[in-house]
Amino acid sequence: MDSIVVTGGKALHGQIAIAGAKNAALALMPATLLSEDPLTLTNAPRLSDIKTMTALLQSLGVEVTSMQNGKVQVLSSHAMTSTTADYEIVRKMRASNLVLGPLLARHHQAVVSLPGGCAIGARPMDIHVTALEAMGAQIDLRDGYLHAKAPGGLKGAKVPLRFASVGATENVLMAATLAKGTTVIENAAREPEIVDLAHCLRRMGAQIEGEGTSTIIVQGVDRLGAATHPVVTDRIELGTYMLAPVFCGGEVECLGGRMDLVAAFAEKLDAAGVDVTETDKGLKVKLRGDRPRAVDVVTEPFPGFPTDLQAQMMAMLCLADGTSVLEEKIFENRFMHAPELVRMGARIDVHGGHATVHGVETLKGAPVMATDLRASVSLILAGLAAEGETVVNRVYHLDRGYEHVEDKLGAVGAQIERVSGT
Ligand code: EPZ
Repeated sequence: MDSIVVTGGKALHGQIAIAGAKNAALALMPATLLSEDPLTLTNAPRLSDIKTMTALLQSLGVEVTSMQNGKVQVLSSHAMTSTTADYEIVRKMRASNLVLGPLLARHHQAVVSLPGGCAIGARPMDIHVTALEAMGAQIDLRDGYLHAKAPGGLKGAKVPLRFASVGATENVLMAATLAKGTTVIENAAREPEIVDLAHCLRRMGAQIEGEGTSTIIVQGVDRLGAATHPVVTDRIELGTYMLAPVFCGGEVECLGGRMDLVAAFAEKLDAAGVDVTETDKGLKVKLRGDRPRAVDVVTEPFPGFPTDLQAQMMAMLCLADGTSVLEEKIFENRFMHAPELVRMGARIDVHGGHATVHGVETLKGAPVMATDLRASVSLILAGLAAEGETVVNRVYHLDRGYEHVEDKLGAVGAQIERVSGT
């Protein structure tokens, strides 16, 4: 397993290009199942999670052609061979469950393994199942798999979500495009990745309105056609690199960054004493003083503060002048980065869904372990500030969601390298 070694204290200067969004691409790729005509995705991120989704779709018979070093993906499901998403693939990546809606919509059947829990929580699928059953699907849980069928196809329905689940909204949105009649999704998730998926489905011929609001209305159509769609900028990678200069000084311009993707996050950065400036190329970021100020953070569904930036923000608050309280309201176990940061000298008390961070002047480099995707990058960020060397192990977590983090940070002055493991 590879490790990443960071030596702290080097100020950062320059530009970092932000890639297409992992969490948009993972919903856009299964959309190919809705049509026999090809779907071309541009600005696709080069990540191991995309490779996993590719493998899953190929196991169903989808043709996936990768071009321009993975930045363009051409998908075609004109020759499907299976409607079963196998546990061996699904267990590696929860987003595999996003084939459920499209398979039911066009093939009227699907067998999808339950993803099982992961480091950050139990990650059930009850909201997905209840919503698809409201559209006429019959779904049974047997031997760890959801056995779903919709004889005669899905029907449009009013679908209230008990929680604004991103994945459930995506599954229902895709399913509704081919359902008979009108579907109204209430309490829909509003994340930019949902908006991006709706834009792509509309390009394929879907009739959708209200994406980005809590109520999405879909008129089912008989078939969807070919489309070419650019994947939206990754707001989580963007927020991650916006934070980098706060740890070690300097100024970084995040190319492709858009303020509307990170408004709640940027607001918190401003309160912490960080300047975020819109340029014609993206977002330029630097720390106003010589130390960030403490701020409190509560994670919420979009447009609130994103849970996927909570770990990175906690790492920054470890160095802030004052005490901050972070409340994680989306996942039940998303503070696993805290004990690793404490190993670097941070002062953090975790009680249930709350973490209290008492800012310290410096962190010390140490060997630390990545536990999940966003926790691992928060340790890299802490390493940028720490005195001495930080070795982050198990960076396969990192590679799921960040393209060549050592190249992007190294190019703006960080002393960082990847060490191949055994
Ligand atoms: C998406 O996961 C993202 N993944 C996650 O990003 C992100 O953290 C999450 O949305 C919240 O923003 C992708 O888009 C591939 P949810 P998803 O359904 O769809 C509970 C990353 O680091 N829930 O909005 O799985 C669930 O347990 C990843 O890139 C149910 O109880 O998130 C969780 O506590 C991590 N029943 C909460 O809702 C359900 O049926 C939010 O889940 C579904 C969800």
